[in-house]
Amino acid sequence: MGRKPERPFEEDAAIIIRALNDFYEQSVSGEHPVIYQPPMSELAADMELAALVREGGLTGEKLSRFIDQYLSALTRIYHPANIAHQQAVPHYMAALAGLVDNFVSSDGSIYELGPASVTIEYVLINWLLEKVGWTPAPLNPQQATGGTYGGGILTNGGSLANLTALIAARTRLAPEVWREGNPANLAILAPAGTHYSIARAAGIMGLGHRSVYALEVDDGGVILPDRLRDALARVEADGKQIVALVANAGTTAAGLYDPLREIGAFCREEGLWFHIDAAHGGPALLTNKYRHLMDGAELADSLTMNMHKLGRVPAFCTVLVAREARSLDNAFTQEASYLFYEKEQPGYDFIHRTIECTKPVLGLKLFMVLAATGEAGLANYVERQFDLAAQAYEYLQGLPDFSCPVEPQSNILCFQAEAAGDAPLALRDRLIARGDYYISSAVLNGQRYLRLTLNNPATTLDDIRNLVREIRELGAGNSALDCRDG
Ligand SMILES: Cc1ncc(COP(=O)(O)O)c(C=O)c1O
Repeated sequence: MGRKPERPFEEDAAIIIRALNDFYEQSVSGEHPVIYQPPMSELAADMELAALVREGGLTGEKLSRFIDQYLSALTRIYHPANIAHQQAVPHYMAALAGLVDNFVSSDGSIYELGPASVTIEYVLINWLLEKVGWTPAPLNPQQATGGTYGGGILTNGGSLANLTALIAARTRLAPEVWREGNPANLAILAPAGTHYSIARAAGIMGLGHRSVYALEVDDGGVILPDRLRDALARVEADGKQIVALVANAGTTAAGLYDPLREIGAFCREEGLWFHIDAAHGGPALLTNKYRHLMDGAELADSLTMNMHKLGRVPAFCTVLVAREARSLDNAFTQEASYLFYEKEQPGYDFIHRTIECTKPVLGLKLFMVLAATGEAGLANYVERQFDLAAQAYEYLQGLPDFSCPVEPQSNILCFQAEAAGDAPLALRDRLIARGDYYISSAVLNGQRYLRLTLNNPATTLDDIRNLVREIRELGAGNSALDCRDG
């Protein structure tokens, strides 16, 4: 910094921290609506966006006014009734890590740009490799040649991680692809309910959506392992080669786990790249109680785990790990003389493994949360949220006018309510308009259900009981709900 800032950093930071503390306390106490959506034009005016851009001067009183306006129109992540999406409810240590990182603006791709941040990423990847049951990579990069050890990369989200894994799988199957383009006959196997990032990756990779063959599933969307051979026969009959088979841990709609051991054994037998999209449910690996859901994960070739869902860190923080580091090292072949070339250095460059060139520091916040809570702290949190979903399921199943299509395995619970009739979306809209609850919905086996994602450590079974009361109230005498959802 050349000149001293007009107001000291500490004073403005104190304004922000005070505002964030108030936001947190108001949210957790549930005294404000969880969700409030005024028109955009109103918000732009309230936050004085145009004037601030024109005139500047965001400090002191102005800063305080702006941050209060900003926070007042956010969906409140810490609110106990915020039970809609798989969004992390961050530990405060993640926010402090964000502050550090945004201040020092380090980089996660090249060792010389941030030795400390790259080291943290490397250690976190090793941590997850061990959790999966794979071999961590030596910390001394000189020793990191040859041998079979795992590797990974932190990515800006699960979509990029899934894309990276599929690119690595394709390079293994068809190494000439970077020069020659795709062979015409590549296929990916995945259940139809798989997160859309897999189909999108197929599109981005130039394979087309038609290359994604749907695996047979049960009513909950879970892969039927005894039907895998039929799927293989279908693909072979079409003259296709399989890039990868993708399974889920948990599924996007209902958070259920595919039978990883059986699928992994099948992939090993057939020589198929096995990718597990554990973006949602991977943190079960950290727990004693729910680790069994990830049984067989070590049979995979690659695994995606979003720590910005159940890891108490805000987006993005995805860990992509691979059983063999070299499969990721070989995934991309491009060169850049100003960045990567043969060189001796005391650390590691991640740039060979990433789609992006500049890569933000994604590991610091996860590391600082883990270091604050210890692994056991994070594991207890995950267990609590899974337990809460099981309790909510028992409770709803015991009511005459509520029911759940599947028993939950993680922290997601789908349900239907008599009060919603055939219009769950209309009921959700009314609930959100009231602002007392924020829930989501999803389609399972062709039918739309209301859906809870119990990420919030502040949510209790009492909140679910109150939600039931409110849904009944909204249903009673409300003719708007009689019209069917489209
Ligand atoms: C199972 C699954 N895979 C992948 C993704 C994509 O992750 P991201 O939103 O971080 O790109 C999601 C996101 O919701 C998901 O639930």
